[in-house]
Parts: sequence; structure tokens; C-alpha cells
Amino acid sequence: MRIDIVKNKIELGRAAAKFVAGAAAKKPHLVLGLPSGTTPLLMYRDLLRLHRKGLFDASKITTFNLDEYYGLAPDNKHSYAHLMDRMFLRFLPVFQSHIPSGLIAREKVAAYCRSYEGLIASGGGLDLTVLGIGTDGHIGFNMPGSPFDSRTRLVTLSWQTRKDNARFFRSIKDVPTQAITMGIATIMSSRTILLLASGKGKADILLRALEGPVAEEVPASIIQKHKNAIIIADEGAAHKLSKK
Ligand code: GLP
Repeated sequence: MRIDIVKNKIELGRAAAKFVAGAAAKKPHLVLGLPSGTTPLLMYRDLLRLHRKGLFDASKITTFNLDEYYGLAPDNKHSYAHLMDRMFLRFLPVFQSHIPSGLIAREKVAAYCRSYEGLIASGGGLDLTVLGIGTDGHIGFNMPGSPFDSRTRLVTLSWQTRKDNARFFRSIKDVPTQAITMGIATIMSSRTILLLASGKGKADILLRALEGPVAEEVPASIIQKHKNAIIIADEGAAHKLSKK
């Protein structure tokens, strides 16, 4: 595990974009796992800047998003499909992009999730997966207590996560109660993991995730066990870490 500390969220976006573009330069057919949330937005913006300058060729890349709210259509402005399109994918000609659908009928969800795993596997598996971290330590939408051997599935969102994400909705009542997410084992199968954390609000959970016990109660703590994990944190998020 390597921890890179940068000054602020702008530098975090730049450093993360540089890392992703570097991985794509080394392996043009990169299979890339992508997060939503606000932390990666500046990375997306910077990747678009690198693309415009001819420094990031995404034409052979396949992307897989980590998660989607269950029940939201891709054109719903609160869906992650909509966010990804608006902030990134509509401006970037990737080879293929995949985002879990929030509109699969309940009885078909299990088969759908298996097919999402199948798509990742048939693409050669995830090379690099970028993650944010929730204030309760969730990654993707794997809530505290998610089994470390979990795969893509339908999950129920915790109150804390719905509360944190309510800022994007009219009120917490409008935040979906469920989501489809890659599992912890899916994420851990990625050859490289890049975890991003920004702001003082993440300092406590980043400390628990990186220096506390590896436990299902803190899903992000599993990355201590990954052979090739890089953490980029800004000074706000990193200020409680002892192992810098
Ligand atoms: C959501 C996403 C996560 C993300 C988390 C933190 O719950 N499903 O993938 O890491 O939010 O978001 P933010 O970066 O806005 O703090």
C-alpha cells in the first residue's frame, strides 16, 4: 500500500488523472473500474483536459462503473449513469462503457449481476479500479458489514449513506433505498486499486480504513490486503494518518 498526500482536492484530481492516463499509456486496452461521488469529479475533469491535449488516449479503454441506484433510470438526473455521462463519458470516446442498470426487475437482478461480473471477466478482468470512500468506510455501495467475498449484487443502503447523499436530492426521502454495486471481492480482483479521499470529513474514516483492523465493519479496510493499492489523499483527509 502506497499513500501519496497532495495539498488539496485540485491536486488530488490532477494526481489521480495522471495515474489513470499513465496506466492507459502502458496498456491501451485498459479495463477501468470507475466510481461516482464528488471526490472523483476533478479527476474526470483533468482526464478530459489530458485527452484534449492528446495526452490520454481512451479509444481502446473499457470502463465499468462500480454502482448505480436501484430504481433510477439512466436519464434521471440523480442516477450515476446521468452523472457519468454529463461529467465525463459524453466527452470521451472510450471503446465501451458499462454502468449497472437500476431498472432491472427484481426477479432478474441476480442473473443481471452475474452477467455484469461475466462482462468484466470476458473483458480480461479489471486492471485498475478507482474508488472513493464513504464516511462510514463504504466503497462502491458496499455498506459496513458487507462480506469480503461479495460480488455484484443488490444492496440496501445504510441510513448514514442515504443521509450523506441526500445533499444531491430534494430530501432524504427521495434517496433510493437500494443500489446495485460491484462486491468487495469484485473490487479486490482488480490488479490495481486507486483510492481517493478528500477533505477533513474523511480523516477519521481514512485513519480507520488504513491503520485500523481489517474488518467487514469498515469495507475500505480490505485494501490493506491488496498487493497493489495506491491511496491519494489530500492534506485534509490525511491529517490523522500516522504512517505517511
Ligand atoms: C457514494 C458512492 C461511492 C463514493 C461515496 C463517497 O456513496 N457510491 O462510490 O465513494 O459516495 O462520495 P463523495 O466522494 O461524494 O464523498
